[in-house]
Amino acid sequence: MKHPIRAALAALCALALVLAGCSAGQDPGPASSAPVEVEFGLRPARTPHPSAEPAAAPAPTQEPAPEPGPSIEVIDGITYVNGILVANKTYALPADYNPGVDPDAQSAFDVMAQAAANEGLNIYISSGFRSYDYQAGLYQRYVDRDGQAAADTYSARPGHSEHQTGLAFDLNTISDSFANTPEGQWVAAHCHEYGFILRYPADKVEITGYKYEPWHLRYLGVETATAVAESGLCLEEYLGIDSVYAE
Ligand code: DAL
Ligand code: ZN
Repeated sequence: MKHPIRAALAALCALALVLAGCSAGQDPGPASSAPVEVEFGLRPARTPHPSAEPAAAPAPTQEPAPEPGPSIEVIDGITYVNGILVANKTYALPADYNPGVDPDAQSAFDVMAQAAANEGLNIYISSGFRSYDYQAGLYQRYVDRDGQAAADTYSARPGHSEHQTGLAFDLNTISDSFANTPEGQWVAAHCHEYGFILRYPADKVEITGYKYEPWHLRYLGVETATAVAESGLCLEEYLGIDSVYAE
C-alpha cells in the first residue's frame, strides 16, 4: 500500500510535468531563442504553421490556355495579320486597290541587285506590280489554256495576287530552272538580308496553295523576312493563317 504523502507528491509532480508541456519521449524542439543557421545570401526555408496557410490546391485539371491566334485587322478592305499585309487565297484585296510598286520594296530590290552584281550576278524584275484588271486578264488566259483547277495551282485569281500589293517581284526567268542558276541560288540564300522571302517554297505547296515559285519574292522588311527565313516556315505558317478559296 502506497504512503499517502508519497502518493500526493507523485500526483503533484505528474501535474507539474503536464503543465510544463513535457513528457518523456517527446522532442521539445529547439528553444525559440536558438540561433537560425542562414546560408549567406539565401532566404532561410520557411516552415509554415499547418494552420497558417490553406492546404495546397489540387493540381489543375483544365487544359492549358490555347496559344493566342493571329491578330487580323481589315482596314479599307485590306487584311493585315499581325500588322503584315496579306494577299492569298483566303484574303483578297479590293478591286480598286492600286498602289503601284512599293517604294521601300523597290529600294530594297535595288540594293539587293547591286549586291548580286558585285558578285557577278544579274538579277532583274520580270514582273512587279500588277493591277486587279491586269491579273484578271492573266488568270483568264491561264484558265482558258489549262482549265481553272490547274490555273489555280500557279496563278492567283484577281484580287488574290500578291503582285497587286506592290510588294512582290518575279525575278529573271519565270521557270523552275531559275532555282538552279547561280542567281536563283544566291537569291534563295540572301534575299532575307534585303527584306525579301521566297513566298512559295517547294515544301509548302499544300499550305501556300501554290506550286513552287523560286522566282517570286515578297517584301517584308529585313527583320520580319529574316525571322520567317530562319523559322523555316512559309508566311501562312508563320502568321498562323490559311490560304484557301472560299468556294
Ligand atoms: N503566281 C502567283 C501565285 C500570282 O499569280 O500572284
Ligand atoms: Zn509572282
